[in-house]
Amino acid sequence: MVKRILAAACIPALLAGCGGTADQEDAAGETYVQAHTIQQLMANVVQPTAENYWNSVQYISDEDGNHEIEPETDEDWQRTRAAGATIAELGNLLMTPAYSEGRGEDWTQFSQSLVEVGLRAEEAAVNKDVDAVFEVGGTVYSVCSACHQVYPPENMPEDAPTGEPPA
Ligand code: HEC
Repeated sequence: MVKRILAAACIPALLAGCGGTADQEDAAGETYVQAHTIQQLMANVVQPTAENYWNSVQYISDEDGNHEIEPETDEDWQRTRAAGATIAELGNLLMTPAYSEGRGEDWTQFSQSLVEVGLRAEEAAVNKDVDAVFEVGGTVYSVCSACHQVYPPENMPEDAPTGEPPA
């Protein structure tokens, strides 16, 4: 038992270079699993997360007049906060080699912008600031859209952010 723990503790040290040859990629390969292609990540993680954020504050005009949807309970605000926080972390994920390899430097810049805007999105929810959530939501859209303009998806679904944020 003791022997096994010692052996396990030695693995990261070996990979980090006490053995001398393994490079960082090997070390990452031991633990990091790319679970989704970029397309799957966008369609099933990024887009639904951004929608959760955008949907949390909405100004709707219809035949019954103007309605405002906004978070009310602490739980609602927590969901909005979680969406903002997730957007930030998705920016970090996009910077990992699995997604950034073969892309230009601007890929990393767009991803960093997503981290920054995600943090602002989270902060707006922490402050329970309805107007800020709406406004930062527009900026989130612009960041998505900016990357798509440089790296256009082959089959861009209609709901994917491409142009100006919705008014
Ligand atoms: C760093 C660049 C980058 C950023 C930032 C980015 N995307 Fe994408 N997105 C892509 C690329 C590349 C594709 C094309 C994937 C493919 O089809 O291979 C894509 C595709 C998509 C798609 C289409 C997926 C499908 O069904 O084919 C959606 C929806 C999408 N992105 C939503 C978003 C949203 C929402 C944001 C912002 C919260 C965002 N993206 C931010 C690079 C980015």
